[in-house]
Amino acid sequence: MKITKDISLKDLVKNYPQTIEVLNTLSIDFCCGGDDTIEVAVNSNNQDLEETLALLEKKAEVPMKDSESQLISIENFKNLSINEMIDSLKMTHHKYERELMLELDELINTILLVHYENHKDQLVIIHNLFATLKMELEEHFAKEEQLIFKIMKENKNPSSEIIAFIDEVESEHDVAGDILKKLKVVTNNFKAPSDGCYTYNKTFETLETFVNDVFVHVFKENSILFPEYREKKTN
Ligand SMILES: [Fe+2]
Ligand SMILES: [Fe+2]
Repeated sequence: MKITKDISLKDLVKNYPQTIEVLNTLSIDFCCGGDDTIEVAVNSNNQDLEETLALLEKKAEVPMKDSESQLISIENFKNLSINEMIDSLKMTHHKYERELMLELDELINTILLVHYENHKDQLVIIHNLFATLKMELEEHFAKEEQLIFKIMKENKNPSSEIIAFIDEVESEHDVAGDILKKLKVVTNNFKAPSDGCYTYNKTFETLETFVNDVFVHVFKENSILFPEYREKKTN
C-alpha cells in the first residue's frame, strides 16, 4: 500500500502501525479521528502535507523491531476473532491503564503539593484534567466489561439497538480523547520544566506512556473491533 494524502488514518495505522510515532509527534489524532484522511488531519493541524507524507513513508519503510510491542500488538489484534479481541482488550489495555491511573493519581498529587508555589498554573490544570479522565475511563471500562462486551459476545448478529449502544460507547471515546489532547498541550508534549525534580519527570513520562496506550486502545476499538462487529449486522 502506497501512502497517499487520501488514505484514512485508520487504514494507515492498521497497515503501518510503526507510523504511530510520527502521528504522536505531530499530534495527529488517529484514535478518535481515524476516519479522517491524512490530508484533512494535516490541514486541520496547519502542517505541511508533503513533509508529513515524506515522514510517514520513511517510517513505514522501516520494519518493526521486536521491542515495538505496542505496535506488534496491533498487527496481532487485526487477526483475532471478536471474542478474542474483547478478551485481549480487557487483559492488556484495561488492566495496564487501571494500574497506570493508580500510579499517576499518586504522582500527580505529589508534584502538585511539592511544586505548587512555582508551577501551580500548570499543575492545577493537570490535576483537574486527570481527575476527570480517571473518572470517565473507570466508568467507561466498567460499562464495556460488564455490559457492552458481554452483549457483543452473546449476540453474534447485532440488532439496531445494539449498534446504537455501540455508537454511544464510541462517543465516550471522543470525550476521553479531548482530555488526552489537552493533557498533551498543558504538559508541553510531556516535557517537564527545567527546575522539575525526578518525580516531576517521572510523572510526565508515565503520563506519556498512559496517553499513548489509551490512543492505541481506542484505535483498536473504534477502527477494528466495532467496525468488524457492525459488519455482522443482518437486520
Ligand atoms: Fe476499552
Ligand atoms: Fe472504549
